[in-house]
Amino acid sequence: MTKEVETLEKVKQQAEEWIREAALYIKKEMKGSFAVNTKAHQHDLVTDVDKNVEAFFLEKLSETFPTHRLMGEEGSFEQIKDLSGIVWILDPIDGTINFVHQESNFAISIGIFLEGEPIIGFVYDVMRDELFSSFKGNGAYLNGEPLPKLPKNALNESILSFNAGWMLKDRRLEKLVHSSRGIRSYGVAALEMAYVASGRLDAYISFNLAPWDIAGGYALLQEVGGKATNFRGEALNFLEKDTLIAANPWIHDEIINTIYNQDNKQ
Ligand code: IPD
Ligand code: CA
Ligand code: CA
Repeated sequence: MTKEVETLEKVKQQAEEWIREAALYIKKEMKGSFAVNTKAHQHDLVTDVDKNVEAFFLEKLSETFPTHRLMGEEGSFEQIKDLSGIVWILDPIDGTINFVHQESNFAISIGIFLEGEPIIGFVYDVMRDELFSSFKGNGAYLNGEPLPKLPKNALNESILSFNAGWMLKDRRLEKLVHSSRGIRSYGVAALEMAYVASGRLDAYISFNLAPWDIAGGYALLQEVGGKATNFRGEALNFLEKDTLIAANPWIHDEIINTIYNQDNKQ
């Protein structure tokens, strides 16, 4: 094992410890009262718990790995203008609406990038105690059990996931309802990507996601042969919001072709 890999293995162990500590805090706070506020619009929620989890990671990183930088949804992203060095891309709670309304179906998501490449991925379903994790070149795992490479698949035998609101925005998504076995919607992008990586879903589609929604799930997908691009089939950019198709590689391009004519991609 090279020194760099050994060091990154330690980073992974440390990240897992902090994720579990943050999850205990989230569970404790969920039983009490916490402030819920809106951000960009009335359905874009943030709670004190989201902010405190991000502050926790910020503090831990500056104490333990002072050269690592944090790109978190709740403010720390503003400092990050490039992906040089080691950057932790964090969504302290992905699925905040579910956290507030359902007390389940939310996740802590972290992608740890080295010079712009995903090295370590974590998506932790706090209430189900399901930890999806990955290390570049060493596979992806669910609670320590290896996840197999994604098998050959066909669209008409696939389960897809997207938010019903997107169909109002673009009726061409209706074609996917007809061409697939079924549609699901969970409201937690990171977990939906982890479900694609573990074969529970065959694709997850969204019109507007930020780097922190997708970084952890993207790292997982790399390890099982998943394919994730924007709607134009281009590589994802972890500094901007974009569209997303994260899928089993056998159906990824068919999804793009089903939604869009070759000469009319948006
Ligand atoms: C949201 C969730 C949701 C997705 C939204 C995200 P948040 O993240 O992942 O599923 O549709 O686009 O913003 O706000 O709960 O962290
Ligand atoms: Ca999110
Ligand atoms: Ca969030």
